[in-house]
Amino acid sequence: MPGKVLVTREIPEAGLGLLEGFDVTVLQERPPTRDELLEAVRGASGILATATEKMDGEVMDAAGDGLRVIANMAVGYDNIDVEAARERGVVVTNTPGVLDETTADVAFMLVLAAARRLGEGERLLRAGRWEWWGPKQLRGLDVWGKTLGIVGLGRIGRAVARRGKGFGMQILYHNRSRNEDAERELEARYLDLDDLLQESDFVSIHTPLTDETRHLISERELGLMRETAVLVNTSRGPVVDEGALAGALGEGRIFAAGLDVYEEEPKVHPKLLELENVVLAPHIGSATIETRDKMATLAAENLAAVLRGEQPRTPVGP
Ligand code: GLV
Repeated sequence: MPGKVLVTREIPEAGLGLLEGFDVTVLQERPPTRDELLEAVRGASGILATATEKMDGEVMDAAGDGLRVIANMAVGYDNIDVEAARERGVVVTNTPGVLDETTADVAFMLVLAAARRLGEGERLLRAGRWEWWGPKQLRGLDVWGKTLGIVGLGRIGRAVARRGKGFGMQILYHNRSRNEDAERELEARYLDLDDLLQESDFVSIHTPLTDETRHLISERELGLMRETAVLVNTSRGPVVDEGALAGALGEGRIFAAGLDVYEEEPKVHPKLLELENVVLAPHIGSATIETRDKMATLAAENLAAVLRGEQPRTPVGP
């Protein structure tokens, strides 16, 4: 039974411990280069990957005929060519359910930090330029009692909406399909995307990245938002057109933004780096000790299950 397993990055021990009994190779902390990946994957029956590694047909073919599972240590799996995996009989799994609250905390942190200009204030203070308390200094926007628009009301979007409810916010949402259970829980109102953008004070994005959601928020959509609106993205960078966002922020067409994800990570659009009214986090949505342990554990359990001929807990797709 012991198959060869490639773990593409150093992951928490909680996950590695579950792979004892397999012939495991763990690559380093940084992402492997494409060549390193193609070399390291040879002969693997299972790959435990992260969202940083592109898993396409070429990687699957480099692994060879024995490849049976790619277990992503992430809920998003846009890095994996699921169709190529299906054609080759490779099972794909992800880690839904274990990171919702943790990621929702980061989305709400960005809502608050962007509205209250935390990054700008901290930069001022650290640079020794905070000289006095001022009645008109660093005035941001209230969050409590405002309208929060959730784009993509899945598990994470719903957890963000609950936080909004705690701040006395009205909840609007847009989703592929209506969720009447969530509407009851959150007293949420379903709107089409354009109406949501027009009516929200805060817009938080929680869609997966697909062909339909790439650049979902672009020049036209930003133009629908209020001048006092704040945009938050903790989903995937390419859902927002970064150049268009930088333009809207720079010209004050929206008030601020909070981003955890970028179009070409780890690169960030140079114009965004120059702006004061955007809070920039380095893709830390799920980055807590507790949650990364759970993600590593679930990914390893999924991988081990497939190699043992059992059903994985959280397969992707049908
Ligand atoms: C992280 O970005 C994830 O998809 O879990």
